Amino acid sequence: MTNDKCQMTNESVPSGHNLNLGILVSGRGSNLQAIIDACEGGKIPAKVAVVISNDPAAAGLERAKKHNIPAVVFEPKNYKDKNTYELEIVKELKKHNAQLVCLAGYMRIVGAVLLEHFPRRIINIHPSLLPSFPGLRAQRQALDHGVTVTGCTVHFVDAGCDTGPIIIQSAVPVKENDTEETLSARILEQEHQIYPLAIEFIAKDRLKIEGRRVKLKKM
Ligand code: GAR
Repeated sequence: MTNDKCQMTNESVPSGHNLNLGILVSGRGSNLQAIIDACEGGKIPAKVAVVISNDPAAAGLERAKKHNIPAVVFEPKNYKDKNTYELEIVKELKKHNAQLVCLAGYMRIVGAVLLEHFPRRIINIHPSLLPSFPGLRAQRQALDHGVTVTGCTVHFVDAGCDTGPIIIQSAVPVKENDTEETLSARILEQEHQIYPLAIEFIAKDRLKIEGRRVKLKKM
């Protein structure tokens, strides 16, 4: 990834009190839950305005409904191409005045349409210390590689796969007898800590992107 691909040099990130969040999920939605809980518990000045899934079976949709959050499904197979599919998502996000888009286990590569409509306003959580182990099954990749430390990363989304500027990371030691499941569970605990924290930084206008570096402004 290059800086110009990312186009994020020296820019403040949009923020505001009660920042409206649009969350994209594909499955279980435990990160979504952590974000909802942090918003409802008053830990971050933000609100989940809408949850969107590409999969009607995603458990994240039920989590949203339990909190009276609009939960909407757009299935890619119903659209002629990726741009048309993403345009529907953009329309829905704008209908709910989403200011920041959070990918929370959204297992699709974000395309040009979403990136154009939400420049520097899409973030993602990934279960590894990027740039190590991008893409699918990051925890399995870490075990197969034999690393002794892995973790999770929240980053801005750009046109690459898990390549955008890094906001925050948390390290997790790999234990000798770890399986993909045990390691994933310990990483997930950290994900639930750092994702709401990253959103808090954005909601409080504390981030500044300088090329690949994301700087945390002093309070
Ligand atoms: C999380 O571990 C998240 O980091 C990962 O999917 C899981 C979703 O869990 N995302 C990716 O691998 C994206 N490349 P959740 O649905 O319970 O939040």
